[in-house]
Amino acid sequence: MSTTPPEVMISEDEIRQRVNELAEQISGDYADKGTIVLVGVLKGSFIFLADLSRRLSIPRTIEFIAVSSYGNSSIQSGAVRLVMDVRGNIEGKHVLIVEDIVDTGHTLHYLIGMMASHGPASIKTCALLHKTDSTQIDVPLDYVGFSIRDEWVVGYGLDYAERDRTLPYIGIVHPDDRD
Ligand code: IMP
Ligand code: MG
Repeated sequence: MSTTPPEVMISEDEIRQRVNELAEQISGDYADKGTIVLVGVLKGSFIFLADLSRRLSIPRTIEFIAVSSYGNSSIQSGAVRLVMDVRGNIEGKHVLIVEDIVDTGHTLHYLIGMMASHGPASIKTCALLHKTDSTQIDVPLDYVGFSIRDEWVVGYGLDYAERDRTLPYIGIVHPDDRD
């Protein structure tokens, strides 16, 4: 295992700046809609959600859901399983799903279906990162922080086998550094 820190793909400053922009855009779009429910997808979105939610200027509440993909952590099989559903009642509410990263699209596709079954007033999606070349299933992405190339990234909530989640920037884990 390599001990060198992951190469920087997106710096702390760039993330801060972009999260501010997203918060401003979302606050504007929902300005007349009352309270929105931010649904964070555990674990990867926890830092993004913490920063984004605190920069919004509209009333908001927070919910969490947890999913897991079957099989190996860095190979997406497309099969998604719900580990924890939202606790609060989201029926009739405006829901914004907050994800760390959209890779193949299977997870978000599944989550939109899950959330829809609760009967919310609306569902929108927000992802910090989008691997644009990896799409297997098209999902509506309303807010995207950064479009990135197909690399395994860590930091700002994202992990590689539970490592590097609390890195302040988005870094690249090269295939040689994986074990
Ligand atoms: P999808 O279902 O293929 O879109 O994958 C989405 C999930 O896979 C994300 O919510 C992440 O948990 C995980 N994931 C995909 N790519 C990465 C990555 O580069 N770093 C960390 N997690 C990732
Ligand atoms: Mg995730």
